[in-house]
Amino acid sequence: MYEVEEVKTTPFDDQKPGTSGLRKPVTTFQKTHYLENFIQSVFDTMEGGVRGKQLVLGGDGRFYNKRAIQVIIKMAVANGVARLKVGRGGLLSTPATSNIIRKYSLDGGIILSASHNPGGPQGDFGVKFNIGNGGPAPEKVTSRIYERSLELRRYFIARGPDVDIERDGMEAMIMETAVEVIDPVSDYADLMEELFDFEEIRSLLRSGFTIRYDALHAVTGIYAREIFVNRLGAPEDSLRNCVPLPDFGGGHPDPNLKYASDLVEEMFSDNAPDFGAASDGDGDRNMILGRKFFVTPSDSLSIISANHDCAPGYRKGLSGVARSMPTSCAVDHVARELGIPCFETPTGWKFFGNLLDADMITICGEESFGTGSNHIREKDGIWAVLFWMNILARKRQPVSAINRSHWFKYGRNFYTRHDFEEVDIESADRLMEHLERQLDSLSGNVADGRKIKLADNFCYHDPVDGSESCQQGIRIIFQDGSRIVYRLSGTGTKGATIRIYIEGYTRDMERMEEETQSFLGPLIRLSRKLSNIQEFTGRSEPSVVT
Ligand code: G1P
Ligand code: ZN
Repeated sequence: MYEVEEVKTTPFDDQKPGTSGLRKPVTTFQKTHYLENFIQSVFDTMEGGVRGKQLVLGGDGRFYNKRAIQVIIKMAVANGVARLKVGRGGLLSTPATSNIIRKYSLDGGIILSASHNPGGPQGDFGVKFNIGNGGPAPEKVTSRIYERSLELRRYFIARGPDVDIERDGMEAMIMETAVEVIDPVSDYADLMEELFDFEEIRSLLRSGFTIRYDALHAVTGIYAREIFVNRLGAPEDSLRNCVPLPDFGGGHPDPNLKYASDLVEEMFSDNAPDFGAASDGDGDRNMILGRKFFVTPSDSLSIISANHDCAPGYRKGLSGVARSMPTSCAVDHVARELGIPCFETPTGWKFFGNLLDADMITICGEESFGTGSNHIREKDGIWAVLFWMNILARKRQPVSAINRSHWFKYGRNFYTRHDFEEVDIESADRLMEHLERQLDSLSGNVADGRKIKLADNFCYHDPVDGSESCQQGIRIIFQDGSRIVYRLSGTGTKGATIRIYIEGYTRDMERMEEETQSFLGPLIRLSRKLSNIQEFTGRSEPSVVT
């Protein structure tokens, strides 16, 4: 019924994976051979060859997901994959995929997602490849894939009927490949039950504590229903936008103050629930809100680390913590107090992989609404939400009170990120070169009355495999603990996005409750001046402030 065909193709020159996989407009992926070329490049560069390997396949349900799943199943068959687990309906969140790879000792997985980018026929699509430890392919793997894509002249695909992926438990032997349709939720929900005290959270919810979880019409809707409603007993109206849609209901599935604005509005209203949270397209990001209170992702990482012993899965302690370089230094204070190491890595989850595998860290996170731990090798949205619920169940205090007492104890790291999106690529490059040229003269100097301790372009030396990743962002670090960081986004699909990260620190009780943008005002102005951003880009204000 199926027959393998070798298809002649010509290489594309733009298949270089970015911060997390290959991400392009849907229309690019719809070009003849585009998806096939990339998948074949992944298969061709798998260590030891793809024949006989066991893989998992799923996606965030965005437009083109189902079409791509069928293509990849047939390519896996034609390339002799031994077993392919496919999420029912083509769905699997990024964290759930990571868990499946680890739990069943698979060789890797393919996740179809453009994370928080909009979906639909005019939106974005993406392909991520994860390796046997469950984490995103490291740079040495993604560069091999890219090199292969530049010389690819053929791919293999089985011609035959589409596979029915709508039924759990369906298993079909297609040529040499066992194609198995799996429940995308249950293994993941079981893992969460091992890590967190579900009984205690159930009792919190029974006590009248109210929650609102917004899946933004993306993949976590199915996980939220099973975990929050079925297993934890939260009422149905705790869920918002929990039916996954191919265009995410026309929204931007990014859990931040701008794109999850309905939830934010509700959480800042007079009849707000006690706790609010949201996740992104593929379920690895999270936003945490209390009643009339927003927890910054950097603070969330720090608070989770400080309160790790509330959750049964972390009671034996943390081996260390890590944050990406632009993430605020809030967690550093906690690490110091706990007497554990704190690592600073480049942006992107893949850099945490080695530290987690070597058990040098237990919890890690990024300012970009990403938090996670050694339970898998991806950041994990629902995990962070459950961690907070577990802390709240233990402490029985409002979110805002927990956050404030954390500041009182460790000091407050005021933090903001200003994004200048869709900037012309050349202007963005020129701006970065302009900053780079100033580094030597800035180091040791004074800018706007602040002494500069260090100005450099961040270079990371991986302590596990000795690899080096340089040019990871310009940092200007001041003597008083404040920082300005500049880098170009590696996940955008239109023009360049310049990200400016601004951080200031205080232990002054009088200043703890100040508004962030106003506390950071002088540093924000300095960040614009040093980069000459208006001159280079013609923009005076950022498009997104978080
Ligand atoms: C962004 C975030 C980064 C995150 C990545 C994937 O990458 O800044 O922290 O790991 O998305 O979710 P960027 O666009 O900045 O390269
Ligand atoms: Zn994501």
